[in-house]
Amino acid sequence: MFKVIKTPPEQYGGDMAVYFVRQPTKKGAPKSTCKEAGQVLSRAFEAGDFLAKEEQTLMFYPEKSGKTRKRIKRVLIVGLGKDDFSREIFRKCGGAASLAALKTKARKIIVTIPEIKGFNRSELTECLVEGLFLGAYQFRKYKTNHDNNDEEEESAGIDEIALYAPDAAGVRKGLKRGSGAAEAVGVARDMANEPGNYWTPSRFADYGRELADKYGFKARILSKRDMKRLGMGGILGVSQGSDQPPEMVILEYRTGKKVPTLLIVGKGLTFDSGGISLKPAAGMGDMKYDMSGGAAVLAAMQAIGEERPKRVDIVAIVPATENLPGPSALKPGDVITHYGGKTVEVVNTDAEGRLILADALAYGVDKFKPDAVIDLATLTGAVIIGLGHHRIGMLSNDDKLAGRITHAGERSGELLWQLPLGPEYTKQLKSRVADMKNVGGRAAGTITAAAFLEKFVGDVPWAHLDIAGTAWNYTKKSYVPKGPSGIGVRILLELVRAWR
Ligand code: BES
Ligand code: ZN
Ligand code: ZN
Repeated sequence: MFKVIKTPPEQYGGDMAVYFVRQPTKKGAPKSTCKEAGQVLSRAFEAGDFLAKEEQTLMFYPEKSGKTRKRIKRVLIVGLGKDDFSREIFRKCGGAASLAALKTKARKIIVTIPEIKGFNRSELTECLVEGLFLGAYQFRKYKTNHDNNDEEEESAGIDEIALYAPDAAGVRKGLKRGSGAAEAVGVARDMANEPGNYWTPSRFADYGRELADKYGFKARILSKRDMKRLGMGGILGVSQGSDQPPEMVILEYRTGKKVPTLLIVGKGLTFDSGGISLKPAAGMGDMKYDMSGGAAVLAAMQAIGEERPKRVDIVAIVPATENLPGPSALKPGDVITHYGGKTVEVVNTDAEGRLILADALAYGVDKFKPDAVIDLATLTGAVIIGLGHHRIGMLSNDDKLAGRITHAGERSGELLWQLPLGPEYTKQLKSRVADMKNVGGRAAGTITAAAFLEKFVGDVPWAHLDIAGTAWNYTKKSYVPKGPSGIGVRILLELVRAWR
């Protein structure tokens, strides 16, 4: 989709040329390097229509001027706002450009990378590219009308984005990082967009094998038989009500050096009906997204396979199953035994995420002896009550790890907010018949869910990211379309890139 070009935009044909402009700090119209924009910009400014505020856009249709300008259909000027430039602003402005291209069905666009004093060109390009790519994201697999004809309202997508800047080296470097991250996010969104009747646990297994083949990861996919042998009563119990066999995907990225090991675990619930504790019908279809944590983990592995980080080994585990109320389904009151021997009274079969994660975490910690563990899961509706759709809920037993993740979240524009753990919360999980129950009441639902997981990681530094509020219906951003957001992928990647 992307390429870096040396031909200036005036000599490059296409459907849309994009320029970014700063909002002037003093009086006067914003200025652009676009030769034809001068008049239009000052008139739009005088009319009060375009001040170059963040994400503000102005489109015009240039005359074919002399020999230089090849016929370009449209010019889009995107405002960057005044100052305090951040990584997120460039993402949002890149996203705004892509949205304008989709709206006009522009398929071939050329973007002039701006020069912003005090902001590294390669980093700026990285963020713009993330915004451009992710703003252009669409999931059209099941739309049978592939032609971009006039009757169709939607664009068929952007085919080519040419990046122009005098300093091509910096741009290339930024493009590599930005497109690596953005493509992985696209992959996570694709997995989540797939319907539950296609994206089953075995698809997770297939995709894991595919990644292993492509990038040389060691792969081990635990089957139902393996799970029985290993005593994984959590994932086995949850899968009982479904005809689809459960799978546990395990991928190992090894540097071959003596470096720390990071374990990443993602909830891969390919459809959560609630089981016997059935969910209400309204909105139940969204529960095909209950595998977003698993999607983020595998998508991150794809980017890791591409980038091959040097300072950290990474093990990824995705426990994958459906949660359905079939005749053999787990029932409220049932007692299960997890990997490692802990027993749990299942008081609500809809609190299934923690049951499958418990086995994955306990097994991962036991088998791989990681130096740190991060899990991502659409775990509780309660996190939406607490933090809305704007932040990931983070719970951790280790301040240093939590700090690292917070920093990665800030850099990637995927914000987190930490909630506490503590013995008072753990106490809510006391069971009369087993070691614990799987639900601790209505109060502090996100915290008690994490307190449950905490029991399965021992003393290893661990952080749990509850992405139930952000994996879809995420806070409105130009580069996040409706539907799955692919959240978590860029946090993981940012962490791995900075690990030392
Ligand atoms: N997958 C859901 C959590 C969820 C809810 C994600 C809404 C996104 C949006 C999870 O398995 C679940 O059902 N959790 C229950 C737990 C409860 C029974 C203690 C919940 O949050 O209601
Ligand atoms: Zn559930
Ligand atoms: Zn669930």
